[in-house]
Amino acid sequence: MSKLIRNGTIVTAADMYVADILIENGKVSAIGSNLSAPGAEIIDAKGHYVFPGGIDPHTHLDMPFGGTVTKDDFETGTIAAAFGGTTTVIDFCLTQKGEPLKNSIQTWHDKSRDKAVIDYGFHLMIGEINENVLNELPQVIEEEGITSFKVFMAYKNVFQADDATLYRTLLAAKEHGALVMVHAENGDVIDYLTNKAIEEGNTEPIYHALTRPPEVEGEATGRAALLTELANSQLYVVHVSCANAVEKIAEARNKGLNIWGETCPQYLVLDRSYLEKPNFEGAKYVWSPPLREKWHQEILWNALKNGSLQTLGSDQCSFDFKGQKDLGREDFTKIPNGGPIIEDRVSILFSEGVMKGRITVNQFVDITSTRIAKLFGLFPQKGTIAVGSDADIVLFDPSVERVISAETHHMAVDYNAFEGMKVCGEPISVLSRGEFVIRDKQFVGRPGSGQYLRRAKYNAQTSNDQNEFQSI
Ligand code: URP
Ligand code: ZN
Ligand code: ZN
Ligand code: ZN
Repeated sequence: MSKLIRNGTIVTAADMYVADILIENGKVSAIGSNLSAPGAEIIDAKGHYVFPGGIDPHTHLDMPFGGTVTKDDFETGTIAAAFGGTTTVIDFCLTQKGEPLKNSIQTWHDKSRDKAVIDYGFHLMIGEINENVLNELPQVIEEEGITSFKVFMAYKNVFQADDATLYRTLLAAKEHGALVMVHAENGDVIDYLTNKAIEEGNTEPIYHALTRPPEVEGEATGRAALLTELANSQLYVVHVSCANAVEKIAEARNKGLNIWGETCPQYLVLDRSYLEKPNFEGAKYVWSPPLREKWHQEILWNALKNGSLQTLGSDQCSFDFKGQKDLGREDFTKIPNGGPIIEDRVSILFSEGVMKGRITVNQFVDITSTRIAKLFGLFPQKGTIAVGSDADIVLFDPSVERVISAETHHMAVDYNAFEGMKVCGEPISVLSRGEFVIRDKQFVGRPGSGQYLRRAKYNAQTSNDQNEFQSI
Protein backbone atom coordinates (compact mmCIF):
# COMPACT_ATOMS: atom_id res chain seq x y z
CA MET A 1 0.00 0.00 0.00
CA SER A 2 1.29 3.47 -0.78
CA LYS A 3 1.87 5.94 2.03
CA LEU A 4 1.74 9.70 2.17
CA ILE A 5 3.74 11.44 4.88
CA ARG A 6 2.13 14.83 5.33
CA ASN A 7 3.53 18.16 6.51
CA GLY A 8 6.74 16.96 8.05
CA THR A 9 9.89 19.08 8.04
CA ILE A 10 12.16 17.20 5.65
CA VAL A 11 15.84 17.55 6.46
CA THR A 12 18.62 16.37 4.17
CA ALA A 13 22.34 17.11 4.30
CA ALA A 14 21.67 20.22 2.23
CA ASP A 15 18.06 21.37 2.80
CA MET A 16 15.24 21.80 5.26
CA TYR A 17 11.67 22.36 4.07
CA VAL A 18 8.07 21.39 4.78
CA ALA A 19 6.56 19.03 2.21
CA ASP A 20 4.67 15.79 1.70
CA ILE A 21 6.39 12.54 0.72
CA LEU A 22 4.65 9.87 -1.34
CA ILE A 23 5.95 6.34 -0.95
CA GLU A 24 5.18 3.64 -3.50
CA ASN A 25 6.74 0.19 -3.82
CA GLY A 26 9.23 0.93 -1.06
CA LYS A 27 10.61 4.04 -2.71
CA VAL A 28 9.97 7.76 -2.52
CA SER A 29 7.91 8.47 -5.64
CA ALA A 30 7.06 12.15 -5.15
CA ILE A 31 7.89 15.07 -2.88
CA GLY A 32 5.80 18.23 -2.96
CA SER A 33 3.21 20.46 -1.38
CA ASN A 34 -0.34 19.21 -0.97
CA LEU A 35 0.25 15.93 -2.74
CA SER A 36 -2.85 13.89 -3.23
CA ALA A 37 -2.75 10.12 -3.45
CA PRO A 38 -6.12 8.41 -3.44
CA GLY A 39 -5.99 5.20 -1.44
CA ALA A 40 -2.67 5.99 0.21
CA GLU A 41 -2.28 5.64 3.96
CA ILE A 42 -1.87 9.12 5.43
CA ILE A 43 0.80 9.66 8.06
CA ASP A 44 0.69 12.99 9.83
CA ALA A 45 4.20 14.31 10.48
CA LYS A 46 3.36 17.89 11.45
CA GLY A 47 5.81 19.15 14.04
CA HIS A 48 8.23 16.32 13.31
CA TYR A 49 11.51 16.25 11.51
CA VAL A 50 11.61 13.77 8.66
CA PHE A 51 15.16 12.47 8.36
CA PRO A 52 16.70 9.92 6.01
CA GLY A 53 17.23 6.73 8.03
CA GLY A 54 20.51 6.64 9.90
CA ILE A 55 23.31 4.47 8.53
CA ASP A 56 25.59 2.90 11.10
CA PRO A 57 28.89 2.19 9.35
CA HIS A 58 30.44 0.32 12.25
CA THR A 59 28.80 -2.60 14.06
CA HIS A 60 29.94 -5.94 15.45
CA LEU A 61 26.83 -8.12 15.73
CA ASP A 62 27.11 -11.77 16.78
CA MET A 63 30.90 -11.48 16.76
CA PRO A 64 33.26 -13.82 18.63
CA PHE A 65 35.77 -11.68 20.52
CA GLY A 66 37.78 -11.86 23.73
CA GLY A 67 36.78 -15.46 24.50
CA THR A 68 33.05 -14.77 24.19
CA VAL A 69 30.50 -13.58 21.61
CA THR A 70 28.84 -10.16 21.43
CA LYS A 71 25.45 -10.25 23.10
CA ASP A 72 23.46 -8.49 20.40
CA ASP A 73 23.00 -10.46 17.21
CA PHE A 74 21.49 -9.35 13.92
CA GLU A 75 17.99 -9.55 15.38
CA THR A 76 18.30 -7.73 18.70
CA GLY A 77 20.97 -5.42 17.31
CA THR A 78 18.98 -4.28 14.29
CA ILE A 79 15.78 -3.92 16.33
CA ALA A 80 17.64 -1.65 18.75
CA ALA A 81 19.16 0.22 15.80
CA ALA A 82 15.69 0.80 14.34
CA PHE A 83 14.33 2.11 17.65
CA GLY A 84 17.22 4.56 17.54
CA GLY A 85 16.49 5.81 14.02
CA THR A 86 19.00 3.69 12.11
CA THR A 87 17.77 1.84 9.01
CA THR A 88 21.03 0.44 7.66
CA VAL A 89 24.03 -1.15 9.36
CA ILE A 90 27.36 -2.16 7.87
CA ASP A 91 28.84 -4.93 9.98
CA PHE A 92 32.40 -6.25 10.07
CA CYS A 93 32.82 -9.72 8.63
CA LEU A 94 35.78 -11.36 10.37
CA THR A 95 38.17 -13.61 8.47
CA GLN A 96 40.60 -16.32 9.55
CA LYS A 97 44.11 -16.70 8.18
CA GLY A 98 44.27 -19.48 5.61
CA GLU A 99 40.50 -19.60 5.23
CA PRO A 100 38.94 -18.61 1.87
CA LEU A 101 37.27 -15.19 2.12
CA LYS A 102 34.08 -16.59 0.64
CA ASN A 103 33.69 -18.96 3.62
CA SER A 104 33.91 -16.07 6.06
CA ILE A 105 31.39 -14.08 4.06
CA GLN A 106 29.07 -17.09 4.02
CA THR A 107 29.32 -17.27 7.81
CA TRP A 108 28.21 -13.64 8.04
CA HIS A 109 25.32 -14.22 5.62
CA ASP A 110 24.23 -17.12 7.83
CA LYS A 111 24.35 -14.96 10.96
CA SER A 112 22.24 -12.19 9.43
CA ARG A 113 19.86 -13.56 6.79
CA ASP A 114 16.78 -14.49 8.80
CA LYS A 115 17.40 -12.02 11.59
CA ALA A 116 17.94 -8.49 10.37
CA VAL A 117 14.92 -6.17 10.53
CA ILE A 118 16.66 -3.41 8.54
CA ASP A 119 18.98 -3.49 5.54
CA TYR A 120 22.62 -4.39 6.06
CA GLY A 121 25.95 -4.75 4.34
CA PHE A 122 29.38 -6.07 5.28
CA HIS A 123 32.91 -4.75 5.45
CA LEU A 124 35.55 -7.47 5.12
CA MET A 125 38.46 -7.83 7.53
CA ILE A 126 41.82 -8.40 5.85
CA GLY A 127 44.23 -10.21 8.19
CA GLU A 128 46.76 -11.36 5.59
CA ILE A 129 47.57 -10.72 1.97
CA ASN A 130 48.71 -13.57 -0.26
CA GLU A 131 47.97 -14.83 -3.75
CA ASN A 132 44.73 -16.51 -2.67
CA VAL A 133 43.42 -13.37 -0.99
CA LEU A 134 44.45 -11.18 -3.93
CA ASN A 135 42.71 -13.53 -6.33
CA GLU A 136 39.50 -13.48 -4.31
CA LEU A 137 39.24 -9.71 -3.79
CA PRO A 138 37.82 -8.78 -7.22
CA GLN A 139 35.06 -11.36 -6.69
CA VAL A 140 34.33 -10.01 -3.21
CA ILE A 141 33.83 -6.59 -4.76
CA GLU A 142 31.97 -7.56 -7.92
CA GLU A 143 29.80 -10.40 -6.67
CA GLU A 144 29.31 -9.69 -2.99
CA GLY A 145 29.33 -5.91 -3.34
CA ILE A 146 31.69 -5.63 -0.40
CA THR A 147 33.62 -2.48 -1.23
CA SER A 148 35.37 -1.74 2.05
CA PHE A 149 38.15 -3.68 3.76
CA LYS A 150 39.17 -3.44 7.40
CA VAL A 151 42.72 -3.74 8.67
CA PHE A 152 43.51 -3.86 12.39
CA MET A 153 46.77 -2.21 13.48
CA ALA A 154 46.11 -3.40 17.06
CA TYR A 155 45.04 -6.55 18.98
CA LYS A 156 48.42 -8.28 18.67
CA ASN A 157 48.19 -12.03 18.12
CA VAL A 158 44.45 -11.75 17.47
CA PHE A 159 43.46 -9.46 14.59
CA GLN A 160 46.57 -7.31 14.12
CA ALA A 161 48.06 -7.12 10.62
CA ASP A 162 51.55 -5.83 9.84
CA ASP A 163 52.35 -2.70 7.84
CA ALA A 164 53.04 -4.64 4.64
CA THR A 165 49.56 -6.14 4.84
CA LEU A 166 48.04 -2.69 5.32
CA TYR A 167 50.10 -1.30 2.44
CA ARG A 168 49.19 -4.14 0.08
CA THR A 169 45.53 -3.83 1.05
CA LEU A 170 45.70 -0.13 0.20
CA LEU A 171 47.20 -0.96 -3.21
CA ALA A 172 44.57 -3.61 -3.93
CA ALA A 173 41.77 -1.29 -2.82
CA LYS A 174 43.04 1.42 -5.13
CA GLU A 175 43.19 -1.00 -8.04
CA HIS A 176 39.72 -2.47 -7.56
CA GLY A 177 37.74 0.48 -6.13
CA ALA A 178 37.40 -0.19 -2.42
CA LEU A 179 37.86 1.90 0.72
CA VAL A 180 40.34 0.69 3.35
CA MET A 181 39.28 1.09 6.96
CA VAL A 182 41.80 0.98 9.82
CA HIS A 183 41.64 0.45 13.53
CA ALA A 184 44.57 2.75 14.20
CA GLU A 185 46.43 1.98 17.41
CA ASN A 186 50.03 0.77 17.70
CA GLY A 187 49.41 -2.83 18.78
CA ASP A 188 53.05 -3.67 19.48
CA VAL A 189 53.53 -0.82 21.93
CA ILE A 190 50.17 -1.60 23.57
CA ASP A 191 51.25 -5.22 23.95
CA TYR A 192 54.41 -4.13 25.76
CA LEU A 193 52.58 -1.67 28.01
CA THR A 194 49.80 -4.10 28.96
CA ASN A 195 52.24 -6.92 29.79
CA LYS A 196 54.23 -4.50 31.94
CA ALA A 197 51.12 -3.30 33.78
CA ILE A 198 50.03 -6.85 34.61
CA GLU A 199 53.56 -7.79 35.74
CA GLU A 200 53.47 -4.82 38.09
CA GLY A 201 50.15 -5.95 39.53
CA ASN A 202 48.08 -3.19 37.88
CA THR A 203 44.99 -5.17 36.96
CA GLU A 204 42.03 -2.73 37.28
CA PRO A 205 39.97 -1.46 34.32
CA ILE A 206 41.60 2.01 34.35
CA TYR A 207 44.84 0.37 33.19
CA HIS A 208 43.10 -0.47 29.93
CA ALA A 209 43.15 3.28 29.20
CA LEU A 210 46.56 3.95 30.73
CA THR A 211 48.21 1.29 28.55
CA ARG A 212 46.66 2.65 25.35
CA PRO A 213 47.57 6.35 25.53
CA PRO A 214 46.49 8.80 22.81
CA GLU A 215 50.01 8.82 21.38
CA VAL A 216 49.66 5.21 20.21
CA GLU A 217 46.49 6.15 18.34
CA GLY A 218 48.06 9.29 16.88
CA GLU A 219 51.15 7.35 15.77
CA ALA A 220 49.17 4.60 14.04
CA THR A 221 46.84 7.12 12.38
CA GLY A 222 49.81 9.07 11.03
CA ARG A 223 51.48 5.86 9.81
CA ALA A 224 48.34 4.69 8.05
CA ALA A 225 47.98 8.12 6.43
CA LEU A 226 51.55 8.02 5.12
CA LEU A 227 51.10 4.51 3.73
CA THR A 228 47.89 5.73 2.03
CA GLU A 229 49.85 8.58 0.47
CA LEU A 230 52.56 6.16 -0.68
CA ALA A 231 49.93 3.86 -2.22
CA ASN A 232 47.98 6.81 -3.64
CA SER A 233 44.93 5.12 -2.14
CA GLN A 234 41.98 5.91 0.14
CA LEU A 235 41.55 5.44 3.87
CA TYR A 236 38.78 5.63 6.47
CA VAL A 237 39.93 5.74 10.10
CA VAL A 238 37.35 4.15 12.40
CA HIS A 239 36.53 5.20 15.96
CA VAL A 240 38.76 8.27 16.28
CA SER A 241 38.93 9.07 19.99
CA CYS A 242 41.51 11.79 20.51
CA ALA A 243 43.14 15.04 19.45
CA ASN A 244 46.32 13.21 18.40
CA ALA A 245 44.47 11.24 15.69
CA VAL A 246 42.33 14.20 14.56
CA GLU A 247 45.53 16.17 14.01
CA LYS A 248 46.97 13.47 11.72
CA ILE A 249 43.74 13.17 9.71
CA ALA A 250 43.44 16.95 9.30
CA GLU A 251 47.09 17.15 8.23
CA ALA A 252 46.58 14.43 5.59
CA ARG A 253 43.36 16.03 4.31
CA ASN A 254 45.12 19.38 4.03
CA LYS A 255 47.60 17.67 1.72
CA GLY A 256 44.61 16.66 -0.43
CA LEU A 257 44.64 12.97 0.48
CA ASN A 258 41.45 10.92 0.45
CA ILE A 259 41.41 10.26 4.16
CA TRP A 260 38.26 10.09 6.23
CA GLY A 261 37.59 9.91 9.94
CA GLU A 262 34.77 8.47 12.02
CA THR A 263 34.16 9.15 15.67
CA CYS A 264 31.60 7.57 18.02
CA PRO A 265 29.13 8.97 20.57
CA GLN A 266 31.05 7.50 23.49
CA TYR A 267 34.12 9.63 22.73
CA LEU A 268 31.99 12.76 22.40
CA VAL A 269 30.24 12.51 25.77
CA LEU A 270 32.08 10.08 28.10
CA ASP A 271 35.60 10.38 29.48
CA ARG A 272 38.38 8.33 31.02
CA SER A 273 37.16 8.81 34.58
CA TYR A 274 34.35 6.30 33.86
CA LEU A 275 36.92 3.51 33.91
CA GLU A 276 37.61 4.34 37.57
CA LYS A 277 34.07 3.59 38.75
CA PRO A 278 34.14 1.39 41.84
CA ASN A 279 33.13 -2.29 42.13
CA PHE A 280 34.59 -3.13 38.73
CA GLU A 281 31.91 -0.98 37.03
CA GLY A 282 34.71 0.65 35.05
CA ALA A 283 34.70 -2.53 32.93
CA LYS A 284 31.44 -1.37 31.34
CA TYR A 285 33.46 1.40 29.66
CA VAL A 286 36.33 -0.73 28.38
CA TRP A 287 36.65 -0.47 24.64
CA SER A 288 39.41 0.34 22.21
CA PRO A 289 40.54 3.00 21.68
CA PRO A 290 39.76 3.87 25.31
CA LEU A 291 37.85 6.84 26.64
CA ARG A 292 40.09 9.89 26.88
CA GLU A 293 40.54 12.84 29.21
CA LYS A 294 37.59 15.20 28.85
CA TRP A 295 39.42 17.95 26.96
CA HIS A 296 39.61 15.72 23.85
CA GLN A 297 35.83 15.99 23.44
CA GLU A 298 35.91 19.60 22.31
CA ILE A 299 38.50 18.75 19.65
CA LEU A 300 36.26 15.94 18.34
CA TRP A 301 33.19 18.20 18.23
CA ASN A 302 35.14 20.88 16.39
CA ALA A 303 36.44 18.28 13.95
CA LEU A 304 32.86 17.20 13.15
CA LYS A 305 31.86 20.82 12.73
CA ASN A 306 34.75 21.81 10.47
CA GLY A 307 34.82 18.57 8.48
CA SER A 308 38.10 17.04 9.69
CA LEU A 309 35.94 14.13 10.87
CA GLN A 310 32.96 13.27 8.70
CA THR A 311 30.97 10.40 10.19
CA LEU A 312 29.61 8.89 13.38
CA GLY A 313 29.66 5.11 13.90
CA SER A 314 28.50 3.29 16.98
CA ASP A 315 31.18 0.58 17.14
CA GLN A 316 28.37 -1.49 18.64
CA CYS A 317 30.09 -4.44 20.31
CA SER A 318 27.99 -5.35 23.32
CA PHE A 319 28.80 -7.63 26.24
CA ASP A 320 26.84 -8.15 29.44
CA PHE A 321 28.39 -6.76 32.58
CA LYS A 322 27.53 -9.97 34.39
CA GLY A 323 29.16 -13.04 32.88
CA GLN A 324 31.02 -11.33 30.04
CA LYS A 325 32.79 -8.14 31.22
CA ASP A 326 33.29 -10.22 34.39
CA LEU A 327 35.90 -12.33 32.62
CA GLY A 328 38.40 -9.59 33.40
CA ARG A 329 37.80 -9.07 37.13
CA GLU A 330 41.33 -10.15 37.99
CA ASP A 331 43.00 -8.90 34.82
CA PHE A 332 41.84 -5.94 32.69
CA THR A 333 43.32 -7.52 29.53
CA LYS A 334 40.61 -10.19 29.77
CA ILE A 335 37.69 -7.73 29.78
CA PRO A 336 35.97 -8.12 26.40
CA ASN A 337 36.42 -4.82 24.56
CA GLY A 338 33.30 -3.02 23.39
CA GLY A 339 30.03 -1.43 24.34
CA PRO A 340 26.30 -1.22 23.52
CA ILE A 341 25.86 2.00 21.52
CA ILE A 342 23.82 1.17 18.40
CA GLU A 343 20.50 2.42 19.80
CA ASP A 344 21.63 5.82 21.06
CA ARG A 345 24.03 6.93 18.30
CA VAL A 346 21.56 9.15 16.43
CA SER A 347 19.81 10.60 19.48
CA ILE A 348 23.04 11.56 21.20
CA LEU A 349 24.34 13.41 18.15
CA PHE A 350 21.04 15.22 17.77
CA SER A 351 20.76 16.16 21.42
CA GLU A 352 24.38 17.00 22.18
CA GLY A 353 25.20 18.28 18.71
CA VAL A 354 22.18 20.01 17.18
CA MET A 355 20.31 21.04 20.33
CA LYS A 356 23.49 22.39 21.91
CA GLY A 357 24.41 24.35 18.78
CA ARG A 358 27.63 22.48 18.04
CA ILE A 359 26.55 21.35 14.54
CA THR A 360 23.64 22.23 12.25
CA VAL A 361 20.74 19.86 11.68
CA ASN A 362 21.97 19.39 8.09
CA GLN A 363 25.39 18.41 9.36
CA PHE A 364 23.70 15.97 11.73
CA VAL A 365 22.05 14.24 8.74
CA ASP A 366 25.29 14.24 6.80
CA ILE A 367 27.30 12.78 9.69
CA THR A 368 24.81 10.05 10.64
CA SER A 369 23.63 9.10 7.15
CA THR A 370 24.42 10.94 3.91
CA ARG A 371 28.23 10.99 3.98
CA ILE A 372 28.29 7.37 5.09
CA ALA A 373 26.10 6.39 2.11
CA LYS A 374 28.45 8.26 -0.22
CA LEU A 375 31.63 6.75 1.20
CA PHE A 376 30.33 3.19 1.25
CA GLY A 377 28.62 2.98 -2.13
CA LEU A 378 25.00 3.29 -1.01
CA PHE A 379 24.10 6.79 -2.27
CA PRO A 380 21.50 7.75 -3.52
CA GLN A 381 19.65 4.50 -2.77
CA LYS A 382 20.26 5.28 0.90
CA GLY A 383 21.32 8.38 2.81
CA THR A 384 18.86 10.95 1.52
CA ILE A 385 15.20 11.69 0.93
CA ALA A 386 14.78 12.05 -2.81
CA VAL A 387 12.55 10.72 -5.55
CA GLY A 388 13.76 7.22 -6.42
CA SER A 389 15.57 6.64 -3.12
CA ASP A 390 14.57 3.85 -0.74
CA ALA A 391 11.90 5.09 1.67
CA ASP A 392 14.13 4.65 4.72
CA ILE A 393 12.64 7.42 6.80
CA VAL A 394 12.63 8.53 10.42
CA LEU A 395 9.87 10.67 11.92
CA PHE A 396 11.66 12.42 14.73
CA ASP A 397 10.12 14.49 17.50
CA PRO A 398 12.70 17.05 18.64
CA SER A 399 10.63 18.15 21.62
CA VAL A 400 10.63 14.87 23.57
CA GLU A 401 12.92 14.79 26.58
CA ARG A 402 13.90 11.41 27.89
CA VAL A 403 16.52 9.64 29.97
CA ILE A 404 18.63 6.84 28.46
CA SER A 405 18.47 3.68 30.54
CA ALA A 406 19.00 -0.08 30.34
CA GLU A 407 15.49 -0.36 31.82
CA THR A 408 13.98 0.92 28.60
CA HIS A 409 16.56 0.21 25.89
CA HIS A 410 16.14 -2.60 23.37
CA MET A 411 19.67 -3.94 23.22
CA ALA A 412 20.14 -7.41 24.72
CA VAL A 413 22.67 -6.29 27.34
CA ASP A 414 22.28 -5.72 31.07
CA TYR A 415 23.61 -2.14 31.15
CA ASN A 416 23.64 1.04 29.10
CA ALA A 417 26.87 3.03 28.79
CA PHE A 418 24.87 6.28 28.82
CA GLU A 419 22.67 5.36 31.80
CA GLY A 420 20.93 8.43 33.23
CA MET A 421 21.85 10.76 30.37
CA LYS A 422 19.09 13.21 29.40
CA VAL A 423 18.52 13.61 25.68
CA CYS A 424 16.24 15.85 23.65
CA GLY A 425 14.54 14.28 20.66
CA GLU A 426 13.34 10.80 19.85
CA PRO A 427 12.53 8.75 16.75
CA ILE A 428 8.76 8.15 16.86
CA SER A 429 8.28 6.06 13.73
CA VAL A 430 10.82 4.46 11.42
CA LEU A 431 10.27 3.08 7.93
CA SER A 432 12.54 0.72 6.04
CA ARG A 433 11.87 0.58 2.29
CA GLY A 434 8.43 2.06 2.93
CA GLU A 435 7.35 -0.36 5.66
CA PHE A 436 7.06 0.56 9.30
CA VAL A 437 9.65 -1.09 11.51
CA ILE A 438 8.87 1.17 14.43
CA ARG A 439 5.42 2.72 14.64
CA ASP A 440 4.59 5.14 17.44
CA LYS A 441 7.54 3.76 19.39
CA GLN A 442 6.44 0.13 19.02
CA PHE A 443 8.35 -2.49 17.08
CA VAL A 444 6.21 -3.73 14.19
CA GLY A 445 8.94 -5.15 11.95
CA ARG A 446 9.86 -8.69 11.08
CA PRO A 447 13.17 -10.53 11.48
CA GLY A 448 14.42 -11.47 8.04
CA SER A 449 12.84 -8.47 6.31
CA GLY A 450 16.20 -6.65 6.16
CA GLN A 451 17.90 -7.04 2.79
CA TYR A 452 21.57 -7.62 2.12
CA LEU A 453 23.08 -4.62 0.33
CA ARG A 454 25.55 -5.07 -2.51
CA ARG A 455 27.39 -1.77 -2.48
CA ALA A 456 28.93 0.24 -5.31
CA LYS A 457 32.67 0.77 -5.60
CA TYR A 458 34.40 3.60 -3.78
CA ASN A 459 34.14 6.83 -5.71
CA ALA A 460 36.44 9.64 -4.64
CA GLN A 461 34.40 12.32 -6.39
CA THR A 462 31.02 11.55 -4.85
CA SER A 463 32.62 10.89 -1.48
CA ASN A 464 34.20 14.32 -1.58
CA ASP A 465 31.28 16.37 -2.84
CA GLN A 466 30.47 19.33 -0.70
CA ASN A 467 27.03 19.98 0.68
CA GLU A 468 25.70 23.49 0.61
CA PHE A 469 25.99 23.97 4.33
CA GLN A 470 29.74 23.75 4.09
CA SER A 471 29.98 26.72 1.79
CA ILE A 472 27.55 29.08 3.52
O1 URP B 1 36.53 -2.15 21.78
C1 URP B 1 36.09 -2.23 20.64
N1 URP B 1 36.13 -1.18 19.87
N2 URP B 1 35.55 -3.39 20.23
C2 URP B 1 35.16 -3.69 18.91
C3 URP B 1 36.30 -4.07 18.02
C4 URP B 1 36.97 -2.85 17.46
O2 URP B 1 38.14 -2.63 17.73
O3 URP B 1 36.34 -2.09 16.75
ZN1 ZN C 1 38.44 -1.23 16.31
ZN1 ZN D 1 34.70 -1.80 15.97
ZN1 ZN E 1 4.13 12.56 17.10
